[in-house]
Amino acid sequence: MPLVRNLADATIVITGASSGIGTATAYALARHGSTVVLAARTEPALREVARRCRELGGRTLVVPTDVTDADAVRRLAATAVAEFGRIDAWINNAAVGTIGLFDEIPVTEFRRVLDVNLLGTANGIRAALPHLSAAGGGVVVNNASGLAEVAMPYQSPYNAAKHGVRGLSDTVRQELRATGRGAVSICTVLPATIDTPFFRHAANHSGRQVLPPPPVYPPEVVAETIVRLLRRPRREAYAGGAARLIGMQWRLAPALAERVLGWYGHHTQFGPEPTADTTGNVFRPHAEATVAGGWHGRRRQLVRVSAAFGLAAAGTAVGTVAALARRRAR
Ligand SMILES: NC(=O)c1ccc[n+]([C@@H]2O[C@H](COP(=O)([O-])OP(=O)(O)OC[C@H]3O[C@@H](n4cnc5c(N)ncnc54)[C@H](OP(=O)(O)O)[C@@H]3O)[C@@H](O)[C@H]2O)c1
Repeated sequence: MPLVRNLADATIVITGASSGIGTATAYALARHGSTVVLAARTEPALREVARRCRELGGRTLVVPTDVTDADAVRRLAATAVAEFGRIDAWINNAAVGTIGLFDEIPVTEFRRVLDVNLLGTANGIRAALPHLSAAGGGVVVNNASGLAEVAMPYQSPYNAAKHGVRGLSDTVRQELRATGRGAVSICTVLPATIDTPFFRHAANHSGRQVLPPPPVYPPEVVAETIVRLLRRPRREAYAGGAARLIGMQWRLAPALAERVLGWYGHHTQFGPEPTADTTGNVFRPHAEATVAGGWHGRRRQLVRVSAAFGLAAAGTAVGTVAALARRRAR
């Protein structure tokens, strides 16, 4: 079911609102006149995002929150309701990443990525559900990733967490329907690579500079997808054509797609400069109210290469399936 009210009358909570896609989504909703409740750990960045949202026409509330703290997330929901009377939608968007080989990523970091990306989303859904039901219905949008469907090397905890977010969304959706609470919609977003500060925020144990694997799409592509889902909820929506294409390859020829993406991830995620290990923003907040990461233009050449590569891989997958089908038919 869509939002009970139109966007201009809606109160919408956004986690991870201090940077990247969360900030872009707050701006997109503020342009529609929505009331946005902004949550993340970095209070000065949230205040800056709130200032800009008000300029764009939205009402705002800043509630510094660490999504791994279930009580704090419950307080976030209660504060939003105390201030604006209800919650109409909740966007679980906060996440962190750590880059490196599975056996070289520290256990504490692996656990923290699951804690923020998966359990943080669960905390958000748990806090939102009673308030959305009390409002007569509403929408939860879980920002997962294309990596909720496929896998990339050097991102094992992130992949695992995002696959978990997809499964969690599907299960809660089933349960809401089965228990007569279908007025609350649960949507999952599967974005391709997006031009945000994420790749500078991530922890890094690879010894090399981390680069976003192309093609790289602007954050507004995800923000627009989220706004569309609030108006017309669907189970899942891709953001960026590459995520849809790679997802299709993965479903069509999983063994081949896994090899191709393994090769691709190994060759496109790193720059030439050596770097020291860092824990990035995994344990400590580090947001600056910045939407873009500055990668969009710089990786244009690689966009062309990867588009050609994607088409070739899709062709290979289709060819393999067709050849197998012909052989079986003989
Ligand atoms: N960029 C991509 O290529 C891409 C692709 C697919 C999906 N996504 C997803 O899009 C979402 C947004 O990522 P982004 O690219 O915009 O990255 P980003 O710029 O690094 O933003 C991440 C946000 O999460 C917040 N955050 C991190 N840990 C938190 C915690 N414990 N509690 C509360 N907030 C926390 C950060 O703020 P504080 O530091 O202030 O807490 C920040 O606002 C994530 O779910 C990510 O997985 C991104």
